[in-house]
Amino acid sequence: MNSKEVFFIGCAPHVTPYLKQELAECNLIPFEENYTGLFVKATFQEAIMLNYKLITASRILWLIDKFKADDQKQLTQKLMRIRWSDYFSEKKYITVTSQTNHPTINNSMFLNQLCKDAVVDFFQKNYNTRPDSGPLRSEVVIHVHWQHDQVWVYLDTSGEQLNKHGYRQNPFKAPVQENLAAAILYATGWDKKSSFINPMCGSGTFAIEAALMAGHCSPLLDRVNFGYMHLFNYDRKIHKQIKSKLEDEKDFTDMPTIVATDNNGYAIKATRENASRAGVEHYLEMEKCDFKETNIPEGPGIVLVNPPYGERLGEKEDLAALYTSIGDFFKQKCKGKTGFIFTGELELAKKVGLRTSARIPFFNGTIECRLLKYDLY
Ligand SMILES: C[S@@+](CC[C@H](N)C(=O)[O-])C[C@H]1O[C@@H](n2cnc3c(N)ncnc32)[C@H](O)[C@@H]1O
Repeated sequence: MNSKEVFFIGCAPHVTPYLKQELAECNLIPFEENYTGLFVKATFQEAIMLNYKLITASRILWLIDKFKADDQKQLTQKLMRIRWSDYFSEKKYITVTSQTNHPTINNSMFLNQLCKDAVVDFFQKNYNTRPDSGPLRSEVVIHVHWQHDQVWVYLDTSGEQLNKHGYRQNPFKAPVQENLAAAILYATGWDKKSSFINPMCGSGTFAIEAALMAGHCSPLLDRVNFGYMHLFNYDRKIHKQIKSKLEDEKDFTDMPTIVATDNNGYAIKATRENASRAGVEHYLEMEKCDFKETNIPEGPGIVLVNPPYGERLGEKEDLAALYTSIGDFFKQKCKGKTGFIFTGELELAKKVGLRTSARIPFFNGTIECRLLKYDLY
């Protein structure tokens, strides 16, 4: 529990700078990074804490073995040599996920099956029993990463991914994933004290994440199942201590003004329900109105807009006018604030008619997006 182990913390492309910031807040410094995550040395206890605290991460993988495999036979033989029974009981339900660029594998389901068979065969050979397995990610999750001839074998301490923060039962239209919204908030550089204004709030993801951040509240504190809970290293007493420390860190006194508006009544209803589930509905000013009518508080702050996406041609034309009016709104009503537009419609963004001071790349699923920054003097 107290020895330092290697963990890979996964995130969406372009999110590593914000994940690094979050780790620094937990006094951890990664020793290596790639496009979709960071390697860090931490104790199992710290990994439990990170599962609650890292709001921009997608999963936390514990590296338990690393070896060379040229072909499928070597891969399965070496997987069977791992002492799986040192990590979890044969009574556990196991799920295997994998990622590879190996030329003999063109279907990751096939690789999952291959690896799962090796693990089950280990238990069959040594304990004459076969653990139950399937795709549910509900208990032990094993992740195998096979690049060229190198294999990294992980136990997924998150189990179910960390992308969802649990409060959004009502997603309304085209919502951004919760951990992406958190990364975007980090990218805005919001200080958690000045006002945060989110016209076109949809299901309220940005405003809810902002309230949770300002209140030092981990969104996943109510989640009852994580992958680490199914491993022998899991200690209930220590887990309880970690959770109560995180509960104590919550501080909703002195909250900044957070405004969420949308011209669709169902969006405001979704925002209200989701905010209530997250425990932050009292810290949000919600209103059904056109974005131009949004009440902008005095003083410094952030105005973040995530306009709709257009799928058909007519919609694209309407959207061009919408983008122009967002530019006018920024100029006329948001002086002294920093404006941001998060969009995948890079052509339409030109219609805003204001000079950007930064264009920060992101991916929303497979869509390449930008967070456009406008200094509104
Ligand atoms: C892409 S969605 C925002 C999704 C949001 N970020 C989330 O995570 O749920 C765009 C939102 O803009 C709203 N909208 C479109 N035109 C608007 C307008 N003129 N005034 C206010 N809201 C508008 C839509 O109702 C929709 O909820």
